[in-house]
Amino acid sequence: MATVSAAEFSLWSHYIHSICGIQLDSSKGYLIETRLRPLMQETGCANFTDLYNKVKVDFTNGSRKKVIDAITTRETSFFRDISPFELLQHKIIPDLIDQRTKSMGNGRRLPIRIWSAACSTGQEVYSTAIVLKDLLVDLTRYDIRILGTDISDKAIAQASYGRYSKLEMDRGMSAQRMSRYFQQDKEGWRIRDEIRALALFKPMNLLEPFAFPQKFDIIFCRNVAIYFSEQDKTQLFRALSKALAPDGYLIIGSTESIAGLCPELEPKRYLRSVFYQLKP
Ligand SMILES: C[S@@+](CC[C@H](N)C(=O)[O-])C[C@H]1O[C@@H](n2cnc3c(N)ncnc32)[C@H](O)[C@@H]1O
Repeated sequence: MATVSAAEFSLWSHYIHSICGIQLDSSKGYLIETRLRPLMQETGCANFTDLYNKVKVDFTNGSRKKVIDAITTRETSFFRDISPFELLQHKIIPDLIDQRTKSMGNGRRLPIRIWSAACSTGQEVYSTAIVLKDLLVDLTRYDIRILGTDISDKAIAQASYGRYSKLEMDRGMSAQRMSRYFQQDKEGWRIRDEIRALALFKPMNLLEPFAFPQKFDIIFCRNVAIYFSEQDKTQLFRALSKALAPDGYLIIGSTESIAGLCPELEPKRYLRSVFYQLKP
């Protein structure tokens, strides 16, 4: 079975960093082997150098996308780490509605813009949408849009289709919410249209320049920057801070910190949760 030599590790780790920012230190040779071996076999390549040469000359980008799908860790679950969703329910959404009602009055549908950056297969997006529906009940009074983006086309395809296996549903979705918000079909559970309609999914590399027509009230960027270099993290959080509304909220992963990376943002605490806001 082909293994990755030191020279091949160097080629691949540089290439992977250049296409998605994921940084692999020299202890991660096994990751290249286990995750890229199926692609090596699929393309009939004899070793990792052959595969590298084949991927580099594929100007259709098809091979690059397959490498990204293979190398990314798309681990996620519904209501992952629960405290960000309690934060949404008990603080962020009530505060936002209060502020928007004061500034816009009661007559108009209140806009709420949310971005799940690196949303993987969509569980973070649908967990957020379900919290909003449970809390606000009549969604016609609000103009809610939840954008989910991820670099993996495979992840975005599943997120967009909104179908989950029993195993995926068992990871975080209660039986009550499952019957209320999902429809069972032959292959799993599919999100109902009322919740699906709140979301829009797009492929996007967070390390490429981005701009949006409107600022976001809430940005989730959880468990992706852990794979990036300090330099790429700094670039990412600075860019996210520019996409955040002046009174918006940034939520990062429970084991992550942006201390020293983005002076524009300050940490705030609510019960068990930390979130970030722009300094006044
Ligand atoms: C571990 S998952 C986190 C999913 C979700 N945010 C959560 O916390 O449950 C990391 C996701 O980051 C995505 N990712 C990795 N590099 C990325 C990049 N440069 N731009 C956008 N997404 C990226 C991967 O495809 C993967 O779906």
